[in-house]
Parts: sequence; C-alpha cells; structure tokens
Amino acid sequence: MSENHELIPRSVLIPIEGVLLADHIAKNYDAVSAFCPDPSDLLIATYPKAGTTWTLEIVDLLLHNGDLEICRRAPIPVRTPFLENFARVGIPSGLDLLATMDPPRVIKTHLQFHLIPKGFWENKCKVIYVARNAKDNLVSYFHFNHMNLTHPEPGPWEGYIQKFMRGQVPWGSWYEHVKGYWKERENKNLLFLFYEDMNENPRREIERIMRYLDLSLSDDVISRIVEQTSFKNMTTNPTVNYSFIPEPVFDHSRSTFMRKGIVGDWKNHFTPEQAGAFDEDYEKKMKEVNIPFRTQL
Ligand code: A3P
Repeated sequence: MSENHELIPRSVLIPIEGVLLADHIAKNYDAVSAFCPDPSDLLIATYPKAGTTWTLEIVDLLLHNGDLEICRRAPIPVRTPFLENFARVGIPSGLDLLATMDPPRVIKTHLQFHLIPKGFWENKCKVIYVARNAKDNLVSYFHFNHMNLTHPEPGPWEGYIQKFMRGQVPWGSWYEHVKGYWKERENKNLLFLFYEDMNENPRREIERIMRYLDLSLSDDVISRIVEQTSFKNMTTNPTVNYSFIPEPVFDHSRSTFMRKGIVGDWKNHFTPEQAGAFDEDYEKKMKEVNIPFRTQL
C-alpha cells in the first residue's frame, strides 16, 4: 500500500499553461514535462471519461495476442502507467512506475496536447487519441467526480454543466482538449478515434487499432478481444473495473467506474433547455473545427 493514502484530500485546481490540473499533478508537472519516452512507447491520450480504460485494455490484449492470463497480470494502471498521476492506494506514481519498466510501454495521459512532454513528438511515438461527444463525456465525468474523492466536489448538476462549459474541472476544457489533438492529427503520428465508433462497431475499431500498431492477429484472437473488452466483461474484470481503488479514493457506492457504457445517456440528464443552451455554447466554441461527433447511434 502506498504511503499516507488515507490523507489524500479533494484536490484544488491550479492552472498550468491555461489548463486546470489537480494541485498534486500541477506541482509535479515539470518532472512530467521532462519525461523522455522511448520511440517504441505508445501514448494513449484522452479527456477523462472518453473511454481510456477500454482503449488501454484493447491495446494490452492486442499487444499480447489476446492472452487473457497475461492481461490479468496486474491492475490496468500498473500495466499501463498514468503519466502525470500521483501515487495512491498501492499504485505508484506514473513516473515511478515508468522508471521500473522497459520500453515498449503503453502510457496513459489526460494532458492537453500542448502539455504533452515534447519527447513524444521528437521521438515520433505513436499516439492514440479517443474522443467522446461532449454531453455524454460531461455526464460520465459528473458521476466520476462524485465517486472520485480526490477530485473537487462537482456540486449539483446544473452548476456542473456550467463548470464543464468553462473548463473548471480537472484537466480543463473538453473543447480545447479535443480541438488540440484534432488540429494536430495529420501533423503527428496520431490515430484519432471516437468512443461512439467503438461502441457502434468494436471489432472495426479494434482492427483499426491493430493496423495502426502494425499487428496482424487472427480472426479468432480478434473475436476474443472483442468479447473480453465488451462492457459486460469489463464490468466484472477486477483488473479494469477499478474495484482495486477503494475508499478513501473511490467511493463505489456513489457510482461504479464502469457505469453505463452507452451513447446518448445525456438524454437522461439534460433538460431540453439545458441541452439547448449547451448546444448553442458548443457551436461557438467548436466553430473553427468540424469534428464529426455523434450524440446518438
Ligand atoms: P460511463 O460513465 O458513461 O458509463 P475512462 O476509462 O476514460 O474513465 O472512461 C470511462 C467511461 O467509459 C465510462 O462511461 C465507462 O462505462 C465507459 N466504458 C469503459 N469500458 C467500456 C466498454 N467496454 N464499452 C463501453 N463503454 C465503456
């Protein structure tokens, strides 16, 4: 167990280059920024709650030819270090963990594009970015901010929508996050995926990731990976469902980590007025890009 995890308080957000980060991440940002990956390392970048864990599990299975036993060797944040994260309940910090692992490594981050350590671009590392439509992403983050007791209190629903729209949540503005990676997707070695596409046709997207990783797996292995990474199976897989992070960090009675796993849950949360105001603001913030998000399938 890690030291003093009982004492982790809800974090305060501190701006780093215009992005609000939890104080314990912000304080460590210089060390994170100086991290130099190996060219063989793979970065998986997302805004929180866009399908990060799902993608990490798919990639780990692809890299191990769908071997279920190997992919249960450790909880997902130990198999695939969370670059900027601090140590908590038995999981070392991302940098400490990376220091113990030989490349090639699969590295998770929620950092915005301009905060990614330059070494990833200099070394032309492969990067997978997964984006999820704003309203579903917001809903998922709202529930997660409630259950993750190290995040600032999200407060009531209506106020949370405003915070999300202003980027006053950990890792900052969803809008800037998504636009940052979208604008650079053709300049960098970057595979840009959508949560909605993965949900609609997981096999197609898993094969897309496989090709990006220059792998060629048999149809049977791919079928196994599709099955193993279904929402139902991930919910009961103790290495990915985050049951290994107990209180005082995650309060699973407030929300499970694997909550619903669907597209369109925003309709169960937003009133028509809230959705209208959100969409109006969205058009303004996203007008310079044309990202083909889908809010229902
Ligand atoms: P919901 O809260 O909408 O259910 P992250 O890993 O980035 O934190 O994202 C978590 C979100 O991805 C949660 O969304 C979770 O249920 C969803 N998710 C995780 N695995 C999934 C899967 N196999 N299929 C569909 N959604 C999945």
